[in-house]
Amino acid sequence: MYSYADLEGLLKPGKVRLNESMARHTTFRVGGRADALCLPETRYDLLEVIGWASLRGIPWLLIGNGSNVIFDDEGFRGIVIKIRGSNPANDTLWHLNKDHDLIHAGAGVSLARLAWFSAAYGMSGLEFGSGIPGVVGGSIRGNAGAHNCELSQSIESIELLIPPNTITTISAADVHFSYRHTDIDPNAIITGAVFRLIPEEPELIRDRITSFTEYRKQTQPSADQSAGCMFKNPSGDSAGRLIDLAGCKGWHVGGVKVSEQHANFLVNSGEANTADTHRLIDKVRDRVLIEMGIELELEVRILSPEVA
Ligand code: EPU
Repeated sequence: MYSYADLEGLLKPGKVRLNESMARHTTFRVGGRADALCLPETRYDLLEVIGWASLRGIPWLLIGNGSNVIFDDEGFRGIVIKIRGSNPANDTLWHLNKDHDLIHAGAGVSLARLAWFSAAYGMSGLEFGSGIPGVVGGSIRGNAGAHNCELSQSIESIELLIPPNTITTISAADVHFSYRHTDIDPNAIITGAVFRLIPEEPELIRDRITSFTEYRKQTQPSADQSAGCMFKNPSGDSAGRLIDLAGCKGWHVGGVKVSEQHANFLVNSGEANTADTHRLIDKVRDRVLIEMGIELELEVRILSPEVA
């Protein structure tokens, strides 16, 4: 037998929360409670939590900023491990250092922070990430991108933790990157990465970030609660454009609505839940299939309460 309260001895005070609402930890702000939420600061913390869970056969699940993920209304039976952090101390999961043309970043660093850090040092290549709400780890796994750029273009190497306790580094050349996808072992945890960037005037890099930010403000519901783009773009087209053309803008089920600003965003009015989100996703998918003959594929991960 075990008690989740025993987890509290493994991490610093306040870094384990029992029966925690996942709506508080995701950008879409829906989802029920997880049995436990852990907020590890270092790779060692991570190993401790995973070791504890594995020994007891308890499911665990890693999230970054909770930006591309939707939990079930029933929450999650097991441990959710959230690795976003901001204090850039060296041994943490959110370390951030410059070394010549390279930037070393921990998995919990936000892409926005990484973009601005690189700009300050006059290093170009990650400006597109300034408006992406994810963190390095999850964004590498999903090969995040925007403005015709993607992370694969700048990654030099990736540090992985393979449970229970192997830490290894792989070269980006050994990873197959495609649109919003990589073939990185799903059992491995990305704990950090090294990016190779191109020296350029900081002012020019900052200007590019500003224009990307402006474009997003104009075209995306950035101020609303959402999980980012809900569907992947089908080859050569935009899912948002197709959903818009199919006439779905403004559709809603309960408190979930297809954004009037960009149709590939579902926004939460504050009253949304996951069941309504499922219904709206199905309605939109069906309409796009009927009207446009295209089957949309989800970009956002929708989690079931029992499966890691
Ligand atoms: N469009 C419409 N109606 C809409 C939305 C878009 O007609 O409701 C049209 C636009 O007018 C434009 C075209 O579709 O002509 C493309 O739109 P946009 O520039 O917004 O790009 P997107 O393909 O819809 C992609 C990424 C976004 C990223 C933007 C900007 C995906 C699924 N989406 O959107 O990424 O921010 O480009 O670079 O790859 C995400 O991945 O979560 C995401 C939001």
